[in-house]
Amino acid sequence: MLEQIVILDFGSQYTQVIARRIRECNVYSVIVRYDTPAAELKAMAPRGLILSGGPSSVYAANAPRPDAGIFELGVPVLGICYGLQLLAHFLGGKVERGSKREYGKGTLRVLDSFCPLFANLPETLQVWNSHGDKLTRLPRGFKSVAVTENSDYAAIEHENGKFFGLQFHPEVVHTPCGREIIANYVHNVCGCGKNWTMHNYIEQAVEAIRREVGSERVILGLSGGVDSSVAAALIHKAIGDQLTCIFVNNGVLRGREAEVVREVFGRHFRIKLQYEDATRLFLRRLKGVTNPERKRKIIGKTFIEVFEEATRRAGKARFLAQGTLYPDVIESVPIGGNPAAMIKSHHNVGGLPKKMRFQLLEPLKCLFKDEVRELGLELGLPREIVLRQPFPGPGLAVRILGEVTPARLEILRNADRIVVEEMKNSGWYYKVWQSFAVLLPVRSVGVMGDERTYDYTIAIRAVESQDGMTADWVKLPYDLMERLSSRIINEVKGVNRVCFDITSKPPGTIEWE
Ligand code: XMP
Repeated sequence: MLEQIVILDFGSQYTQVIARRIRECNVYSVIVRYDTPAAELKAMAPRGLILSGGPSSVYAANAPRPDAGIFELGVPVLGICYGLQLLAHFLGGKVERGSKREYGKGTLRVLDSFCPLFANLPETLQVWNSHGDKLTRLPRGFKSVAVTENSDYAAIEHENGKFFGLQFHPEVVHTPCGREIIANYVHNVCGCGKNWTMHNYIEQAVEAIRREVGSERVILGLSGGVDSSVAAALIHKAIGDQLTCIFVNNGVLRGREAEVVREVFGRHFRIKLQYEDATRLFLRRLKGVTNPERKRKIIGKTFIEVFEEATRRAGKARFLAQGTLYPDVIESVPIGGNPAAMIKSHHNVGGLPKKMRFQLLEPLKCLFKDEVRELGLELGLPREIVLRQPFPGPGLAVRILGEVTPARLEILRNADRIVVEEMKNSGWYYKVWQSFAVLLPVRSVGVMGDERTYDYTIAIRAVESQDGMTADWVKLPYDLMERLSSRIINEVKGVNRVCFDITSKPPGTIEWE
């Protein structure tokens, strides 16, 4: 059985980050609800437990609490922030409202260099805090192993060597040695090896897919995005020609997208690919439509129609495969909330109708995005696909403000190609979350040679982000901006002005529509 660390989620915005950090140590981790019964946890045979942070106070009436039985399982427990306070509260310590909130950077001084969490680390470390309540009396059997300016109990350890608490957040990047602390916990305290790698995962996933699918057929909607591409490659490795991929050209793809997908999946991987060119249908329905929500609805609805019809022609299949990822299936804890879950459902999946009576096949549903990328590379997918930036389902339609017409699509495709080329050539493409062109169909006056022009504007948007929920505009170097501007104006007919979008999210969204 795969060694795993189980994280009890008390509603922290960083719970998923903890899980990712553990996996970066090549140890599998899963997130469960904070009130998962101890018996259920025992059945999962975890090598260790982690109690996440959370927004509550342990003494509040409705505070989320774990099953007290978790401390009897004989399994190591690490409490982080609220998790430390819970651990102390349950085992007889005292937690009180702090006189001032400890927020931001702090300096940790390790008192006990024998504590396994701090093995091979310096005596003073920079850590990141975010808590109001504080531990004021240690439970019996515990000692303080590290302090900060504001806390005598920044890290605590039980004499049994199994219970630990950290008042700060080792999982965030602002705790530079946090990875080592987490690695020390999973390897030194919990005794986990380094078995979780995408190389190993392929074998296990292929087996599981074969078992689940048997001799049935599978259909997969390939979008060209990272998730569906990796799912396709993985499933194809498992069941070969029992998989049919359907790729719909919705008429608002970027230039050469359809060719790239057909080249990579059809010719290189020899995956059965059913190409549906519905460009004319989509563009006919988008004619005259300027309202962003209407555009999105039309594209979503038309996609379902085309896809359904395509599945009928693909022949009888039992399974529909989807590239669902782990963050989409983690049940969010309502307290404090996990806003990621809410907003994603608005964008993603786009919803294939319930009446399509397929059984779902979701071979990526225990993976994080970075793991999916790694898996894609292991499977031999080209970097161009595996490392590509997110691209919205409604495609260029939400990057052409106003009506989508073939002429405007051509202008945007030309500008988009230049943006991608220049971002890649300068090495910036892979450093940012997204970078793209937007067509503003307002005309302004310019002069080119001796002629007066009256043409459209391209806005360039480049943002950095962790998950698309919030974003900051990227300060691209001036020489790159200059090249982008001059190439677009010189090479893209119909454009005489280039602007750079300097809006963060919030208040702006990443896409313009
Ligand atoms: P916004 O514009 O809401 O976008 O800040 C956040 C992230 O989601 C992407 N996006 C979409 N992805 N279908 C998708 O699969 C959509 O309809 C959609 N709309 C926006 C956007 O590119 C950004 O990464």
